[in-house]
Amino acid sequence: MGRKPIIAGNWKMNKTATAASPLATAVVKEVAGAEAEVVLCPTFIALGAVAATIRGTTVKLGAQNLHWEKEGAFTGEISAAMLTDMGCTHVIIGHSERRAYFHETDADVNRKTQAALAAGLTPIVCVGETLEERESNRMESVIRRQVLEGLAGLGSGLGSVVVAYEPVWAIGTGRTASPAQAQEVHALIRRLLAEIGGPAVAQTIRIQYGGSVKAANAAELFAQPDIDGGLIGGAALDAASFGAIVKAARSKA
Ligand code: 13P
Repeated sequence: MGRKPIIAGNWKMNKTATAASPLATAVVKEVAGAEAEVVLCPTFIALGAVAATIRGTTVKLGAQNLHWEKEGAFTGEISAAMLTDMGCTHVIIGHSERRAYFHETDADVNRKTQAALAAGLTPIVCVGETLEERESNRMESVIRRQVLEGLAGLGSGLGSVVVAYEPVWAIGTGRTASPAQAQEVHALIRRLLAEIGGPAVAQTIRIQYGGSVKAANAAELFAQPDIDGGLIGGAALDAASFGAIVKAARSKA
């Protein structure tokens, strides 16, 4: 079975609800007829505006985080059911910015992934090593821990997960991983997924690359055998750039 590429725009803490609509409208125009699955991930408070803008199109809606509990006294948090109610089909989990600034652990990532799957959301689970971890030869052990602990105990739900490899040193730095560097880690992630769920399931799971993906470098990254699309930050805030990245994605046999 082929893997359909998935390109998600992580808008991070950018765009008010008012500013999100015109960007979503422009993205819809740019990506019409694209081969890839396209997901827009605005802030929580812009979800409604973007949902209204993309209604009736093939573009999908994702959130940037969720809480694992269903409801209750968790001030400031948002549940999976609240996201599906807004029209979300996807949710980013364990982004490196959340791990670094908000102290999210692999156990938190696991709880959030379980909650997303239980609600029918597609989790986009982020993993990636820091520069210090890479330079001290710990990339492999860090990725192993993040994948095995973050995705533990999902059962058949594992097959619905999207993994995003985002080397922390490549995020927002303009320093993209080379296609060969990214491919090496994507292949490692697929081996780890096979350890958890078996090789057949691992072959169907999409693994996105994220970290300074631009229109100029997208095609060579997406041409790698285990790179199934991208999680796009800065370039997702410009509809033409994002559209060019989406058009660079191809299905994998
Ligand atoms: P940039 O594309 O801005 O490097 O961000 C990548 C990212 O963190 C997407 O989640």
